[in-house]
Amino acid sequence: MLQMERFYAQRVKDMRGSDIRDAFKLTEEPGIISFAGGFPAQEAFPIDLFQEIFQRLFQEDYAGLQYGPTEGLEALRRELAAQLTAEGAPCSAESIIITNGSQQALDLICKVLLDPGDYVLVEQPSYVGALNAIGNYQGKKIGIPIDECGLRLDVMANRLKEMASRGQHPKFIYTIPNFQNPTGVTLSLERRRGLLELAKQYDFLIIEDNPYGELSFGQEPVPHIKTMDNEGRVIYLGSFSKILSPGVRVGWLAAHEALVRKITVAKQGTDLCSTTLGMKIVLEALHSGKLRAHIESLRIMYRRRRDLMLRALSAYMPEGVTWTRPEGGFFIWLTLPSYIDTKAMLPFAITEQKVAYVSGTGFHVDGTGQNTIRLAFSQAAEGDIEEGIRRLSRVIRERIEVAM
Ligand SMILES: Cc1ncc(COP(=O)(O)O)c(C=O)c1O
Repeated sequence: MLQMERFYAQRVKDMRGSDIRDAFKLTEEPGIISFAGGFPAQEAFPIDLFQEIFQRLFQEDYAGLQYGPTEGLEALRRELAAQLTAEGAPCSAESIIITNGSQQALDLICKVLLDPGDYVLVEQPSYVGALNAIGNYQGKKIGIPIDECGLRLDVMANRLKEMASRGQHPKFIYTIPNFQNPTGVTLSLERRRGLLELAKQYDFLIIEDNPYGELSFGQEPVPHIKTMDNEGRVIYLGSFSKILSPGVRVGWLAAHEALVRKITVAKQGTDLCSTTLGMKIVLEALHSGKLRAHIESLRIMYRRRRDLMLRALSAYMPEGVTWTRPEGGFFIWLTLPSYIDTKAMLPFAITEQKVAYVSGTGFHVDGTGQNTIRLAFSQAAEGDIEEGIRRLSRVIRERIEVAM
């Protein structure tokens, strides 16, 4: 058999599969209560709406079966431009490109913006898919810590100053300002403004990734960073994965028109066009007038799951464990005493207590975060949440008692 490694490009030598995907395999055993998978709840997919759409889809034309324009269907781009404009960030269809999920937008942005060795600032912890996309183009990731109000701009300002003194300039920062994956934290309005100021001062771009923004549990939405941007410095990413279905693979990006044109050229070499069928389905969903009500029902459902998890955490977790209180989205982030290694603890949690989670290490770019855990409440059955947290607390309690 050929040794394939010697044929690999230099840039893929360090590519690794995600710990998270590996962890999912373990959680499929019967009897396990899993808080690992951060997918949307399958039972919440709007099946009736999809059946209606499928019936309508081919009544007038078969364009959904054809190739489409690389930048996406014009009608959908116009809808999205109008939506973003209504949210306070005026933009035209020419500044929108539809992608196969926002994951592809991340890949294309890195493809177009990054040379090997370019610096990229990321929240620490951050979404693994984005960290991988940056890594695939050999970007150097610099982690900026976050607290309950999001990015620590004080730390970031010091870091930028230090970097500038060494002649290092980041190309962009990647941020998930609403209900962040993995922590559930939201970036405050004040810090959004401060972040844009720093970006202007040190001349870098901002990637604002917002797949969870519509899944708010009641608070007034904080304005997008994009609404404060009058020079095209912010690249805004949206997605229909969490509010409709990830299977349709429709995400989108709004950016400076020149950048959109360049990304369109890059996309031609990647896949010619996004899934036309997916775009048609999304358009029909938007035109049905039923998407708003569906999103409202998702908010209620996810909020109930969040409440159950927060209540169980308060009831069962031992002293020394802290967690975030997300105002939307899918995730709660746990911080355990520093001596607990959550990656090493996972096999015990699964085999002894039949509960699964994702260790926080993989969300960190500097190997830290050993004592952290991401819990997803999005897919958990309501009846399992309390019992799952009780089980997890037992595993953690045992470790705390041994260390005492
Ligand atoms: C923060 C974040 N960005 C992007 C994505 C990718 O989403 P999609 O490609 O399905 O739009 C995810 C998926 O979980 C995510 O959590």
